[in-house]
Amino acid sequence: MSDGISRFEDVTDVVANGGRDRDGNARTLGRWTFEYEPARDLVESLLEGRVLNACAGKTKLNHDGEIVRNDLNPERDADTHHNVERIAEHFGPQSFDTVVFDPPFDDTQADDKYDGIHAKNIYAALEDFEELVRPNGRVITFGWNSWGMKSFAAFEREATYLLQRGPVLRDVIVTVDRRTTGTLATDGAGRYVGAETDRGDSR
Ligand SMILES: C[S@@+](CC[C@H](N)C(=O)[O-])C[C@H]1O[C@@H](n2cnc3c(N)ncnc32)[C@H](O)[C@@H]1O
Repeated sequence: MSDGISRFEDVTDVVANGGRDRDGNARTLGRWTFEYEPARDLVESLLEGRVLNACAGKTKLNHDGEIVRNDLNPERDADTHHNVERIAEHFGPQSFDTVVFDPPFDDTQADDKYDGIHAKNIYAALEDFEELVRPNGRVITFGWNSWGMKSFAAFEREATYLLQRGPVLRDVIVTVDRRTTGTLATDGAGRYVGAETDRGDSR
């Protein structure tokens, strides 16, 4: 329940694992997130305008606008190979309408599944997205938590999805945050609650 007083928030949808993809293969959410059709369908439905796929990995997304694929790993098929923690140095301010952020979710994943390539300072990446996203643009974040762009007053939570993976595995959490003119809650002095101090515990 989101009643503006309590701090509870709705989960928009829970996406069940299992079943088969359109090509008949069994559905599983593995290391290349968007090879899993429900994840790809979800993210593609949210793409607008110029898109930065900030940790692009392997899977190519369909979209009728420009997608800039970035991945630090030079072996990935990407347009740029910048560290997402400093990505705003390489693009103009407010030059994207959508940022997709699907980094390794933890150090073990980075070591085991992504050639030891890490995005340890998640907060630095989020700060850069704040700079890169145009008004009314979106940041779509994949990970183990639902924080997304909540550190930044200019963003509002639009949706939160849980992608289930099975009885003993963690769900993947997808957050969708829209850049507004800064409409998050303010304290009595008009300061944005949650801005700047909520750096979280970057891995
Ligand atoms: C979860 S995978 C992305 C999967 C992708 N969404 C897909 O469906 O194919 C994470 C990717 O982030 C890249 N990566 C890791 N650390 C990074 C960093 N600091 N900056 C940019 N890319 C990074 C890895 O090389 C890996 O390809």
